[in-house]
Amino acid sequence: MAEIVEVKVGDKVYQLPVIEGSEGEKAIDIAKLRAESGLVTIDPGFKNTGSTQSAITFLDGEKGILRYRGYSIEELAEKSSFLEVSYLLINGELPSFTELEMFKSDITHHTLIHEDIKSILDGFPSNAHPMGVLSSLVSSLTAFYPESLDPNRSAEGVNLSILRILAKLPTMAAWAYKNEIGHPVNYPDNRLDYCSNFLKMMFALPTDDYEVDPVVADALDKLLILHADHEQNCSTSTVRLVGSSHASLYASLSGGINALWGPLHGGANQAVIEMLEAIKADGGDVNKYMDKAKDKNDPFRLMGFGHRVYKNFDPRAKIIKKAADDVLAKLGINDPILEIAKGLEEVALSDPYFVERKLYPNVDFYSGIIYRAIGIPTSMFTVMFAIGRLPGWIAQWKEMRENGEPIGRPRQIYTGANLRPFVPMGNR
Ligand code: CMC
Repeated sequence: MAEIVEVKVGDKVYQLPVIEGSEGEKAIDIAKLRAESGLVTIDPGFKNTGSTQSAITFLDGEKGILRYRGYSIEELAEKSSFLEVSYLLINGELPSFTELEMFKSDITHHTLIHEDIKSILDGFPSNAHPMGVLSSLVSSLTAFYPESLDPNRSAEGVNLSILRILAKLPTMAAWAYKNEIGHPVNYPDNRLDYCSNFLKMMFALPTDDYEVDPVVADALDKLLILHADHEQNCSTSTVRLVGSSHASLYASLSGGINALWGPLHGGANQAVIEMLEAIKADGGDVNKYMDKAKDKNDPFRLMGFGHRVYKNFDPRAKIIKKAADDVLAKLGINDPILEIAKGLEEVALSDPYFVERKLYPNVDFYSGIIYRAIGIPTSMFTVMFAIGRLPGWIAQWKEMRENGEPIGRPRQIYTGANLRPFVPMGNR
């Protein structure tokens, strides 16, 4: 017998079905509540509202579990590669050897971007933030591939759009950076793997030889895996919401990039490094900044701490903290802000304010330190997150389309003025 929840309004009782997920998570299905009772539910920030049933990512915030398609993030980070994980997320299963080779070859085939995109890039001022440039360039793909505007076209057509964006996003990201620093862009080198190719487009100069350091490429690959999906977060929900109006994949992804940009979401990795730098410049007193974070009259928050769903630990942060130690050791870098970060973490983990509120380091706390160590400039950190999150956004958009989900359209409770007569200008 399916479980039922009863809601009593006055003397009327409404029976609401309970939906259960494959990991035992339960939800009250309120879809018919309004039609039957006139009531809507309200939940600002969707803190306790499921927007969909999804088979992509499982996350248990209390236990610190994160799995893509049933595979643990710890195992994927250790044994897989970013493109293999991308295939898994988008297609639902791990690829065979041949499927993966084909996937890589298809992506490599599409890394070049239309020369006219360079003119769009040239139109941006050189100090443009690369996230703004990236979302614009992704949106511009709708003009270069107008067939992509139809999300109802054949599965092959949709797949081609997917391969194109997986291939082109690193090129566009590297070009956004070159624009920021006023250097000529580099074209993709298709002899290289996904991460090495990106690094070369980022760092090669016409004046020097550039060799990709495999330690750096491996570190980047791992970071991208850790960012690849995170179920219904702000940017992913944005991608699904934009796509639910049958807007194209590229339009939906462009929306996702903008949602990711904010400092409470993907922009936190940039904010963390800026915060650590500020603490260092101010003499390195971590306690002073802990006090600021706890002071409700001070807008300062400890960036890289806290998470909407993880209330125990963020499993990605655990992997990244160790990776940060490994990468810095391998590259022979001694970064004082790593010590400041560890100091902050140590104090926070025993401070009642943080313990009571279950605030732990999140994925962004240590990722910026690795990005810095491998030479990625701070303004590009959130762009790196976007490259990592791309396969997750695509998988979620595709699932939403394949499940035929309705257009997203939340309700509200109106709190404004009641009906009143218009007041002519002279009488106001
Ligand atoms: N520093 C100080 N206090 C904090 C922090 C923080 N980083 N995060 C939460 N709190 C306090 C907050 O003031 C509130 O206290 P009180 O109950 O006394 O009012 C309590 O903890 C609950 O916080 P909340 O803002 O209601 O929680 P939320 O679920 O709405 O927000 C969050 C989650 C991630 C936006 C928030 O923790 C935050 O702003 N963290 C810093 C930004 C950050 O690191 N974001 C990256 C998130 S992980 C990457 C990603 O998925 O994008």
